[in-house]
Amino acid sequence: MEVVPLDSVEEVAALGADVVEAAVRPGGAVLGLATGSTPLPMYRELVRRHSAGLGPSYDGVRCFTLDEYVGLPPGHPESYRATIARELTDLLGIPADRVQGPSPEPEGLPGAGERYEEALVAAGGIDVQVLGIGSDGHLAFNEPGSSLASLTRLKTLTEETRRDNARFFGSIDEVPRHVLTQGLGTILRARHLLLLATGAGKAAALAAAVEGPVSASCPASVLQLHPHVTVLCDEAAGAGLA
Ligand code: F6R
Repeated sequence: MEVVPLDSVEEVAALGADVVEAAVRPGGAVLGLATGSTPLPMYRELVRRHSAGLGPSYDGVRCFTLDEYVGLPPGHPESYRATIARELTDLLGIPADRVQGPSPEPEGLPGAGERYEEALVAAGGIDVQVLGIGSDGHLAFNEPGSSLASLTRLKTLTEETRRDNARFFGSIDEVPRHVLTQGLGTILRARHLLLLATGAGKAAALAAAVEGPVSASCPASVLQLHPHVTVLCDEAAGAGLA
């Protein structure tokens, strides 16, 4: 695992954008995309470079969103599919039919995880998976206690995560209780994992993930089992590291 402590959010965004761009080759690439606040500065940097004609061509790139809320009305702006389109893929000119997430429609819920896993395999697997970390150490929406071998499935959010995410909604009551999420085993199948962590609220979780024991009580500690992980953190998030 390479852990790169940086001074600022801007440096995390710039170096993260370098990592993503390096994976985008002329023949295309498969990108795994987290949502939440942390990757947004990096996504804006990728868009800035693309708009300035500086980035690679995104022709042939396919994207998979990491997780998705269950129970939001179709087209809800806080769905992860809508968020990724608005913040990144539409702006990079990646067509909507090349961006896929776990499908939260009620009628398709049984089997949604298996279909998403099959789509990942059919695409050839993920080249770079962008990840954030929850303040409780969650990775994607694998909350503490999740199996380290888990695959994409329906999960229930903890109250802590619903409180953390209430800022995207009118109130905590509007935050869905359920999600479809890549499992920890799914995440480990990507060829390169890029974990971004910024802000003091992530310091304890990041230290536990990187330097603590590998344990389901800190799901992000599963990263220690992967052969190619890059962790980019700002000074505040890295404050708990030895
Ligand atoms: C988002 C996701 C979550 C977030 C985590 C941190 O797709 O899977 O694990 O990465 O909750 O969220 P932020 O970045 O908003 O602090």
